[in-house]
Amino acid sequence: MNTADQLRDKRLLLGVTGSIAAYKTAELIRQLRKLGAEVQVIATREAFQFITSTTLATLCGRKILTGLFDEGGGQTWTQHITLGHWADLFVIAPATAQTLAKLAHGFSDNMLTATALAARCPVLLCPAMDHDMYMHPAVRSNLEQLQNLGYDILPPNYGELASGLVGFGRLPEINEIVAHLVILLKGELKGKHALVTAGPTREPIDPVRVLTNHSTGTMGFALAKDLVRRGAKVTLVTGPTWLEAPRGVDRVDVTTSVEMLNAVLAHKDADFIFMAAAVADYTPDKALASKIKKDEDSFVLHLNRTPDILARLGELCHDDQILVGFAMETENGLENARKKLAQKNLDWIVLNNLNEKGAGFGTETNRVTLIGKNGSLYPMELMSKPETATALLDRILTDCA
Ligand code: CTP
Repeated sequence: MNTADQLRDKRLLLGVTGSIAAYKTAELIRQLRKLGAEVQVIATREAFQFITSTTLATLCGRKILTGLFDEGGGQTWTQHITLGHWADLFVIAPATAQTLAKLAHGFSDNMLTATALAARCPVLLCPAMDHDMYMHPAVRSNLEQLQNLGYDILPPNYGELASGLVGFGRLPEINEIVAHLVILLKGELKGKHALVTAGPTREPIDPVRVLTNHSTGTMGFALAKDLVRRGAKVTLVTGPTWLEAPRGVDRVDVTTSVEMLNAVLAHKDADFIFMAAAVADYTPDKALASKIKKDEDSFVLHLNRTPDILARLGELCHDDQILVGFAMETENGLENARKKLAQKNLDWIVLNNLNEKGAGFGTETNRVTLIGKNGSLYPMELMSKPETATALLDRILTDCA
């Protein structure tokens, strides 16, 4: 299919709310229609402070819907249901703090919020507001709730805001929104199975102590979420973490490296495997049944190597599977990562340099380099971990295509 037809026959609902960024939706509608989509706009009354109903209606070629009971607005009082079933995707851009709050709590006081409740299709939210509003704990908690409810959220960009301040809250560029919704609609991994591992493992020493590491699982969870978004069936095998599994993911909780190995082997035929877990390399000889008392000034703990899960997968996987490993390095990153890529028989390895600012364990961001078995090298920008996950998948899937 020609890229100009990417959204041919797709039915989109565009929700517009009362943020200054609403003026940008004129261009969004133009681009969506150029790609072949049918667009129905549902605007809140506040949106018309920033863009006129005539502009929106002219561009989308349809009457703009606002109130549930507006004169002539809805053909019937059940139109919010009909629309919610009609659409392939509902994108709300810009989404104000007010609309996010209503959606997080199930309000349905206008056509936009009622239709969001009735929608059977994915709903993509593009928040836009001033930095301090976006950072307010109430907004953060509503966004978290919305994420748990299964809404797809495209976070705002950092940059100049209408208030003159600089911060988070800028509506992403129109082409970013379009690219994001094309991925959502394409479902390019429909029918594919992806296995992702995440988090640390914990190796017991005695009933009280464990050997573990600082991994939080954020990168693996971000990958799992993006794979679901692309339509894959996702199994997420995770070590102990406080993170909530993204909606639609089949989560398997494990503690030790041996438990992780067994859980992974149960899904070894997955089409895509991402070993993002920080697996302990050594485990105590045997976990003691009773607590070690501090009778001695020092004592020796004997450790044995754990199974190398990724290397096992490298032996077992077929050519039509894609196996991706991660390398955590503090020195000679490229050299060590290339060695692991070859030794473990991987298709790709994602190098994480722990010495780089903003990369590695417990950070919100990551800076990685993707290395392919054919020698290709893709150094990536410093990005949030969800953005890193998207960039990695875009690259890997482009290569598979
Ligand atoms: N890995 C694994 N099983 C292990 C250790 C690591 O499957 N017992 C996987 C990790 O999930 C990661 C990759 O191997 O995808 C590389 O992990 P890393 O800790 O960087 O390297 P190691 O292979 O453990 O080698 P070293 O610790 O010597 O750097």
